[in-house]
Parts: sequence; structure tokens; C-alpha cells
Amino acid sequence: MNKAKRKAVIAGNWKMNKTPAEAKELLSAVAPLVKDADCEVIACVPFVDLQTALETTEGTNVKIGAENCHWAESGAFTGEISAPMLASMGVEYVVLGHSERRQYFGETDETVNKRTKAALASGLKPIVCVGELLWERECNITEEVIARQIKLDLWDVTEDELKNVIIAYEPVWAIGTGKTATAEQAEEVCAFIRATVAKLYNQAAADALTIQYGGSMNDGNAEELLSKENVDGGLIGGASLVAEKFAAIVAAASK
Ligand code: 13P
Repeated sequence: MNKAKRKAVIAGNWKMNKTPAEAKELLSAVAPLVKDADCEVIACVPFVDLQTALETTEGTNVKIGAENCHWAESGAFTGEISAPMLASMGVEYVVLGHSERRQYFGETDETVNKRTKAALASGLKPIVCVGELLWERECNITEEVIARQIKLDLWDVTEDELKNVIIAYEPVWAIGTGKTATAEQAEEVCAFIRATVAKLYNQAAADALTIQYGGSMNDGNAEELLSKENVDGGLIGGASLVAEKFAAIVAAASK
């Protein structure tokens, strides 16, 4: 299987933006603009926006995701949201291991792995984020960092479960900085991720895996990034908050 056979997946990660009323407004603007998309379109939104987002996108091709979930089914974890809670609402996707959670909220590969397995067990499709810091790239250890994250984050995830996993390569230095990885840099690491997955599972599993790039992807650079063999989609932050920009990226992925 090659790129042409993998479905492109464009996902917005709204981060901590938009009230429910604003979510309704944004998704009402996005849905008609992306209705003919030849790729999967997802909006990952804050927990409080999920119900509104699901209602607003009902009957459209826009799927809804959350931005995190806990690994336990329920229990004494004040302030947390479980995977079964999300699944019961009709949420399909969940972003896990985003670098902002790793940087600011103590997320580790061990907890990313636990969350990934919990999400899969509840029928959610995790978008697992990996990526190197700037100084790790400068020290020339990008591949070691990525291989370690992939191995640990996917520990004990079966080949069958892997079919429901998306990997997002997000170089931390490119997030929210306006500094995009070049298409060559993105391709190099996405290809490395696929090769790592081939070693851990097998070539067919790796060939079927959707790998996104994320980090200052926008309507101006999306087409070039998405033209690369191993870049199957995008995880979009800032540009996903503007309907026309997000729709332009979806259009680039649909070509
Ligand atoms: P930006 O597109 O704002 O750089 O954010 C990328 C990101 O972190 C998506 O998860």
C-alpha cells in the first residue's frame, strides 16, 4: 500500500480556544466549505465544546475529537475525563501526548501509552503526537527521540488496534512559532516513523498507517508538505481556528 491508498486526514486541534457558542459559529462556517473533501476532516475541540460540536456537525463529513483523555475508566481523578465518557457522547478521535501536555502538564511516554490503550479499548481513535525539541534536533538525536516515543507510546498496542491509530509528527520547535519544518524535514521524519513502525509490527501495518505533520501548517505551505510520500495529513493548530484557512488546507489534502 502506498500514499495514494492511504486516506489523508486533516485534523484541527483547537487547543484552549473557543466557547461553545464560538465553536458552533466556527463549525457552521467550516462544514459547508469542506463538504466535498476527499480526505477525512476532524475538529478536536475542548471538552466543554464537544456536545455543541457533535450537534453542529451532525449529518456532515466533519468528525469530532477531544484533546486528551484519562487512562482509567472512572474513579477519583478530579478534573479528568475518561475515554468511555467521550465514546458515550459519540466522539470518535482523541489527541494524545501533545507536546503542550508533555511540556506543561507532566505527560510522559508511559502515561501517553496508558491513555492510548484506554482510548483504543473504548473504540476511540487516538492521534498520538511525537516530536523532538529544538535542542534535540541540534544535538542530532531526532531519530533516537522519535523512535523512543513511538516504541513507548505504542507499547502493547496490537497490530489490529494500530489500524485505528494516527501518528502526528509535530516538531516542538515548529508549534505556534510560525517556523514550519521544511517539506523535506517533515518527510524525513515521517518516513523514519513509518520505518520504525515496520520494524515493530510489519511493513503492511506501517504502509497502512496515517502519519500527519503538525507545526505551523497553514494554507500557504500545506500543499507542499502534503505532497510528500509519507506525509498523509496534518494536525493544525492556529489555522484551524479560521474557517477559510482550515478549508484551504482540507482542499490541498483533497488534491
Ligand atoms: P500550530 O499549527 O499553531 O503551530 O499548532 C500545531 C499543533 O500543535 C497542532 O497540534
